[in-house]
Amino acid sequence: MTDTLLRGRTLTFLRWPDGVDDHASYTYEEDGGLLIRDGRIIAAGAYADVARQAGESVQKVDHRPHLLLPGFIDAHVHFPQMQVIASYGAELLDWLNTYTFPEETKFANTQHGRRIARLFLDEMVRHGTTTVAAYCSVHKESAEAFFAESHDRNMLNIAGKVMMDRNAPDGVLDTPQSGYDDTKGLIREWHGRGRQLYAVTPRFAITSSPEQMEMAGALMREFPDLHMQTHLSENDKEIAFTQELYPWSRDYTDVYEHYGLLGRKALLGHCIHLSEREADALSESGSVAVFCPTSNLFLGSGLFDYQRYRTRQKPLRIAAATDVGGGTNYSMLRTMDEGYKVIALNGEKLNPFASFWQMTRGNAEALSVGDKVGTLDAGTDADIVVLDSKATPGMRLRMETVKTLAEELFLLQTLGDDRSVREVYVAGKPAKSVMSTTGVA
Ligand code: GUN
Ligand code: ZN
Repeated sequence: MTDTLLRGRTLTFLRWPDGVDDHASYTYEEDGGLLIRDGRIIAAGAYADVARQAGESVQKVDHRPHLLLPGFIDAHVHFPQMQVIASYGAELLDWLNTYTFPEETKFANTQHGRRIARLFLDEMVRHGTTTVAAYCSVHKESAEAFFAESHDRNMLNIAGKVMMDRNAPDGVLDTPQSGYDDTKGLIREWHGRGRQLYAVTPRFAITSSPEQMEMAGALMREFPDLHMQTHLSENDKEIAFTQELYPWSRDYTDVYEHYGLLGRKALLGHCIHLSEREADALSESGSVAVFCPTSNLFLGSGLFDYQRYRTRQKPLRIAAATDVGGGTNYSMLRTMDEGYKVIALNGEKLNPFASFWQMTRGNAEALSVGDKVGTLDAGTDADIVVLDSKATPGMRLRMETVKTLAEELFLLQTLGDDRSVREVYVAGKPAKSVMSTTGVA
């Protein structure tokens, strides 16, 4: 197979950036090169140095003056909610009952699941996202559809069939036994196949009986290297109902703790209203709190205290996510723009380098896939996004006054969206420019 040599302004992070002057937290090459072979980056650095390592027959792609970054990572998203996004006027529990559960019943149909999985991954790529942690519906067919589509595209994705056996319509319920059996079947078929990773996915404490929570815990004991994803402490009524359903629990987090679901690969969506004890429990277990700003604002759930969680004595590991369809945009740029505003309402600021670290390396490390994606380091997978800071007339005009890389990134985050994503590489192959743009057939 021929090697590919990309040229452009390359940016990749080394660690958490402490401020706009923390230039040691990233590597930036004004004229950078990435040499790609068999889906991996095999050399990265100044273009002249990288080009010297390339063979005669290398295929060169010149992306100057655009930025090359690691593909964005979305740590929490519901693929069956593409026809739920933008549903008006409800808080979490009403929103689930009115819009979300009825929509998810349609995923019993394999054809429907396959169509939406295809359109979902198209939409992710169009927005520059190359890895997601996705919830499927309760139907095993929906997870099969998602993984088949993801595998065909050679994307590194984490996903799982939702387990839910109560407090929802019959069409989206499994049982403790069928949830366990279907999950185990999917793990055997998909986990570790190509770039696919399975996440055990009890939807949340409200829709799983104690018997089902036991089964989820049993799966994590049988397959301890798997991810576990669920929702935690999103909304006041949700928290109160959980306390009624699990009266013995000290708090909401204690429910997941009790069933052995916390740990370094536990991804807990929302985590807005945590007590100090709950935050300590997440910190001590290395669990990940997933920040979903557009969703938390849209559903009126509350303000995630990013900087406090990050800097408290027992800090939390944090990821960021769209949470479509509670979330209102597929773009991680739009997501971090809203995230910036949420953090501002909490009296803090998130510097632009930290934002882009979070979308890339930060999320990769939070998802425990930092050895494969999230940087432009040699030896990692070639999942890359090409960003145009002058994608619209308004951006072009504002760029006239931009003087620093930090300012440019902040402009991209504040005004950018899918129009700023010029190209996306998935495992070294162009994935956006080759996409059909004719609609949603
Ligand atoms: N809690 C349980 N299920 C969901 C969901 O689908 N979306 C959100 N935002 N919260 C949830
Ligand atoms: Zn969610």
